Amino acid sequence: MANKSLAKDHADTCVLVTGGAGFIGSHTCVELLNQGYRVVVVDDLSNSSEVALDRVRRITGVDDDRLAFYEANVLDREALAQVFEEHDIDAIIHFAGFKAVGESVQKPLEYYWNNFAGTLVLCDVARDHGVKNIVFSSSATVYGEPEFIPITEDCPKHEATNPYGQTKSMLEQVLTDLYVGDGEWNVVLLRYFNPIGAHESGLIGEDPKGIPNNLLPYVAQVAVGKLERVGVFGDDYPTHDGTGVRDYIHVVDLARGHVAALDWMGGKVGTGKADTLGTLAGEPAADGTRRGVGIFNLGTGTGSSVLDVIHAFERACGKTLPYEVKPRRAGDVAVNYAACDKAREELGWTAQYDLERMCADGWRWQSQNPDGYATA
Ligand code: UFG
Repeated sequence: MANKSLAKDHADTCVLVTGGAGFIGSHTCVELLNQGYRVVVVDDLSNSSEVALDRVRRITGVDDDRLAFYEANVLDREALAQVFEEHDIDAIIHFAGFKAVGESVQKPLEYYWNNFAGTLVLCDVARDHGVKNIVFSSSATVYGEPEFIPITEDCPKHEATNPYGQTKSMLEQVLTDLYVGDGEWNVVLLRYFNPIGAHESGLIGEDPKGIPNNLLPYVAQVAVGKLERVGVFGDDYPTHDGTGVRDYIHVVDLARGHVAALDWMGGKVGTGKADTLGTLAGEPAADGTRRGVGIFNLGTGTGSSVLDVIHAFERACGKTLPYEVKPRRAGDVAVNYAACDKAREELGWTAQYDLERMCADGWRWQSQNPDGYATA
């Protein structure tokens, strides 16, 4: 079956967003709706809240069928088939998946099943309905201990150190093989660096269950008084202050990267030349839409240390945040930040917001919603 064409206006394009009630998913729904797309969310609410979608409606003013929601897991083939039958889906942005690195070591079966098998089911049902346009949430984790910094998309991938990273890396391969086997597929792999911050309204943001694993939600919960002090995992790395350096990116910038990827797939931006892509770029289809596999880093190109982040958050919230140096965390690399030239040149996308803004927006969300969506 021929692939659905993306050579049309946003208003006529319907995007299935799996995991659309989650942190990155909800922000992406806002940007898609702002750009006039129709959106169908499939989310099992296992690590998210439907309240986030009410907030998306408030932010965008969209209160009609331009935004639809199905509570379902992507492993549920029948539920997915029903979604494709009830909506004329053109493209998929696939966020749904478990994402806790440490937990994935304890629960490999759950991670492989949900993330890996779930994506296979999704692609299979999509293909049955003639949908072969997919943007996949990948991660900088696929680079492992990076061979060079800043990390370009050509940087060799390394064996993942945990099942979560393994699923990302394996799914990149699966999606690439789909195109190799059937040149109708149009795939974008977006390798995220460290998404933080929140929508400037303070209405949507990150709402982790239990004690946060990641730095920013942890710092935010110290700032709001829910946790006592930040543990800084190692201060003897070869960095400017000894603490680990990461490329933090505002979640709204990241969300906009997905909209840019859809425009790119539709042939609306970029050159798509194989030499500028360095990945698999097929000849565009007769309608100008792309075919192939595009790989893009989404980061800012700027590295910040753990202490840089704590101090930026202190400025945002106006308080001193207690911290304590602890041993290094297993599996952490010293420095990790992106080269973002390819996304700029091809997608016409660059991150707009700096660390101060990420912390200011993150603090607004946290202070207005100290218990996340639970009390909404
Ligand atoms: N850190 C602390 N204290 C904490 C939490 C984190 O000092 O309580 C440090 C870490 O050691 C690291 C930095 O803060 O130096 C960032 O840690 P995060 O856990 O926030 O993020 P990671 O860079 O470890 O992981 C992120 C994503 C993963 C993804 C990985 C890929 O959370 O999903 O990037 O690079 F796999």
